[in-house]
Amino acid sequence: MADILLLGPQGAGKGTQGRLIAAEFGIPHVATGDMLRAAIYADTELGRQVKPLYDAGRLVPDDLMIALIRERLAAVDAREGFVLDGFPRTMPQAEALEEMLREIGRDLDVVFEFQLADQVGRERMLRRAAEESRTDDTPEAIDERLRLYHAETEPLVEYFRTRGNLVGIHADRPVQEVFREIQQAVIIRKAPAEIERMARAGEVVADTLALLGEHARPGVTTQELDELADEFIRSRGGTPTFKGYRGYPASICASPNEMVVHGIPGLYALRDGDILSVDVGVTLDGFVADSAYTFAIGEVSEEAERLLEGCQAALAAGIEQCRVGSRLSDISHAIQVATEEQGFSVVRSLVGHGVGRSMHEEPQIPNYGEPGRGPLLAEGMTFAIEPMITAGGADVVLHDDEWSISSADGSLAAHFEHTVAITADGPRILTAATTAVRS
Ligand code: MF3
Ligand code: CO
Repeated sequence: MADILLLGPQGAGKGTQGRLIAAEFGIPHVATGDMLRAAIYADTELGRQVKPLYDAGRLVPDDLMIALIRERLAAVDAREGFVLDGFPRTMPQAEALEEMLREIGRDLDVVFEFQLADQVGRERMLRRAAEESRTDDTPEAIDERLRLYHAETEPLVEYFRTRGNLVGIHADRPVQEVFREIQQAVIIRKAPAEIERMARAGEVVADTLALLGEHARPGVTTQELDELADEFIRSRGGTPTFKGYRGYPASICASPNEMVVHGIPGLYALRDGDILSVDVGVTLDGFVADSAYTFAIGEVSEEAERLLEGCQAALAAGIEQCRVGSRLSDISHAIQVATEEQGFSVVRSLVGHGVGRSMHEEPQIPNYGEPGRGPLLAEGMTFAIEPMITAGGADVVLHDDEWSISSADGSLAAHFEHTVAITADGPRILTAATTAVRS
């Protein structure tokens, strides 16, 4: 689910981006221009009312537009979200939108302000008018609409900025570049039924980690653990999400000692005193859950013991911030503080992430940073929170296999991760172990 609004002058490319966003997130593109043109073409009651205004390049009155949008947003296909394009155009429309969204318990996730110089927009419009032989796009009509945009619509930019969900977009760039920037600002919220599906994937992840915890003993190879996990995940009807992801060859990641993440399972046999970070992702019924745990193998050093506890405390501190009304960087900050309090370092180049429909969704969630920055957290967001920390410095190195990442100074590393949903009642961990995880 994502409720998205596009704001900006004619010719800024809102239509093209609206269609791309709609296709990407499976939500309808609610474009008032298209709706009005269709009504005129079909000669409906509404069409007959708006045709003379439209021909004169004038705006359709607020009450008509509000009624039209109210009806459109109530349609079944808008239940999972929408990209609104061309409404609101005036302050009364903006207030009406806020009101109608409140009535159905929704809120805009993000408002994109397409920024474009008048002259560029004007030229684009004229070119399009010539190409598509649109008779309503005369130079006079275009100028009149630009004037109306500045007079009546532009004040909405401030209105939405104060509500905290405005993102500025430089529109005078290639379509794909603009779209990438838009994608990076949309965090998909999941409906309650979708969160339940993620929880079922999460249960398989948690049970897999518990099973691996029982088998991770001196003498066992990481490859044996991988085979065990692969078989178990499939026996539960899931598929290991990692296998084949960007060519990754295994079902789990198994990273011993100074290795932080992405260790490819192989012939390495565990030894007494090792620590082993195991990362598991499961796709079940179209949804993904992702979790990691660092196991102590046999008797480990006091430093290792402290590192594991510190990393778990950092994860708990991050999860604690997964609440409606917090900001994204509150999670990052809490993890950093909890980690550094123990004298450990946060790896900067690896981040947590949105998860659910796919393994990696927006946003990226760094494990360090100032509090109070970034998007507001909302009900239905689902995050993989994953502190990756070392007992020494924060720098890491990539191995020749192009996957495994270790601490640069050879210090011990730990990685704990949970998939967490933000609910009205606070954070809900979707990968919590139902049986005790132990080594
Ligand atoms: N938990 C890791 C992540 O979120 C898992 C990715 S491993 C990979 O990035 F092999 F699949 F890439
Ligand atoms: Co992850």
